[in-house]
Amino acid sequence: MSKDLIITIAGAGSGYTPGIILTIMNHEELSVKEIRLYDDDAQRNKDMELIINFILKRDNLDINLVRTENPKVAFTNVDFVFSQIRVGQIEMREKDEKIPLKYGVVGQETCGLGGFSYGLRSMKGFLNLVKDIQQYAPDVWILNYTNPETIIAESVRRAYPDAKIINACDMTIAIEEIVANSFGYDRDNWIPVYYGLNHFGWYNSIYDVSLKRDIMPEIIEKIKSEGLDVSNEEPNWAQTYTNMKMLVENFPTNLPNNYLEYYLYPNIILNQTNPEYTRANQIMDGRYKEIKDTVKKIQTNTDLDSINYKSSEHGQYIVDIAASLLHNKNGRFNLIVPNKGAIPNLREDAVVEVPCYVNANGVEPISLRFDIPDFHKGLMEAQVASEKLLVDAFFENSYQKALEAFTLNQTVPNATVAKQILDDFIEANGDFWPELH
Ligand code: G6P
Ligand code: MN
Repeated sequence: MSKDLIITIAGAGSGYTPGIILTIMNHEELSVKEIRLYDDDAQRNKDMELIINFILKRDNLDINLVRTENPKVAFTNVDFVFSQIRVGQIEMREKDEKIPLKYGVVGQETCGLGGFSYGLRSMKGFLNLVKDIQQYAPDVWILNYTNPETIIAESVRRAYPDAKIINACDMTIAIEEIVANSFGYDRDNWIPVYYGLNHFGWYNSIYDVSLKRDIMPEIIEKIKSEGLDVSNEEPNWAQTYTNMKMLVENFPTNLPNNYLEYYLYPNIILNQTNPEYTRANQIMDGRYKEIKDTVKKIQTNTDLDSINYKSSEHGQYIVDIAASLLHNKNGRFNLIVPNKGAIPNLREDAVVEVPCYVNANGVEPISLRFDIPDFHKGLMEAQVASEKLLVDAFFENSYQKALEAFTLNQTVPNATVAKQILDDFIEANGDFWPELH
């Protein structure tokens, strides 16, 4: 295969970049001649360039690497853009998490009001990115995993209805991986039926083609009796997956997305959270520090053997989607798409996460052809409405709509607290947010 593709990674300074690039380089069906690292933070982009160049040399990988902070250079003649930008970076994530916690409300990067704070920031930055991409490469596929994804997808649909964008989240893959590994299944044999909003959904069935049956009920039983095997997880994720046992004990009809813990058990999550040291702090001391340490090792030529970036599950998912588009493979992925009847009894203008086939013609969502239960529907309707109100607030610069969005969010106990947190976030976000009046 001749080398022909150019891929740009937007938000290249992220600690996920080495894993994604190694996945691209190892993928048999993608023949990439150039990777462009694009980030508006020049220092982080330069750090990543240094790391990637080191890895390419160490592994004898032949590719043209470009680093740029200029959108024209980043997007002209490109074939794919992978976006993982995080507007406001980890410092703002810390505020998203800590401000609600001051009021005894869940603080999380994508769920609850932390997700809404990030959402208003992220829409602003992401729509600018899409504008640049539309200008320099209107036909390019954008593979997006910038959060919070439902809010991003809703805003892009409104502002750039013709943009070629696929919104994907790796969470269901991670759930399937840990379930398969915990109980000795082979996930390659699975046809999962999943429905929900992003970070807010349930499995309806998991058909195993080798066992010739739906194994979701037995998976739920196993989680109830044994719990998931969290021995390979870092503490934060180990806690999350341990909580899954409680979720299925109380609601055993469906295997849930772990993120539902923030909406169903905010009381327990608050007890498990240290308001002085949240996930953002763990990442500052973990992934972020690893980047800085790695840069230092390369610059001083010391301890190079300990540099341990590997091809990642996270990267695998996004790269598989690109390969499915490129080679018309009809791969099946859970993607974030306009509902339009995919979940028949949910409002059709919701943005949902459902199984989709990906081929040269783009994304083909499946229709579930069954009505989801009222419990799930009710939770989702409230979430859809609150997210839509937030997107309205963004486009209309409306404080009122933002207050309604915050009040309706199911992690929030009352409108007084909603307003206090909203006002704190307005101050904390400054120019990252649109003006609200
Ligand atoms: C999962 C979710 C992502 C989220 C990430 C957070 O992969 O699907 O949307 O950003 O977890 O992980 P972190 O390690 O940054 O807390
Ligand atoms: Mn996600």
